[in-house]
Amino acid sequence: MAASSAIFDRLKSDHDRHRDLLEKLGNTSGDTEERRKLFEAFTREVKAHAAAEEQALYSTMMRKPATTDETRHSVAEHHEIDEALNDLAATDMSSGAWLQKFKALEHDYLHHIEEEEDDHFPEFAKLLSADDERHMREVFDRRKREEKADAEITPEKAEDAKE
Ligand SMILES: [Fe+2]
Ligand SMILES: [Fe+2]
Repeated sequence: MAASSAIFDRLKSDHDRHRDLLEKLGNTSGDTEERRKLFEAFTREVKAHAAAEEQALYSTMMRKPATTDETRHSVAEHHEIDEALNDLAATDMSSGAWLQKFKALEHDYLHHIEEEEDDHFPEFAKLLSADDERHMREVFDRRKREEKADAEITPEKAEDAKE
């Protein structure tokens, strides 16, 4: 990857924001206004980020045979993260179950963005020109704003989601 990358630097700065929100959330306790606000901010941020990331980057990488498998893997993880967020939203914030589920989500999400940054993005960068990357960044910025305006907290227990 080039020293400076239009799309990948942008995605990584979102990831850093998500790491920060996760750390702050981990320091909250019980059913409090602070936990509620941070959880809502994290959910809207991550849902909008994942959708815009798929539209700006993964849609192109899906079409390239060399990166189809990695793309499928990441998009499947986006779906799992979405379900985990919905399950957490349907769980009593003051319960031990909430904290347990939050810890599992935190672990899985940190793994997801680390894999993107360390494995996927460097592979993708080899196949993209500086122009491609600039264009992807424009698409990402526009779509992220629009997705974020629409992003919602949608509580749904994991057991229900499987039916
Ligand atoms: Fe992602
Ligand atoms: Fe990402």
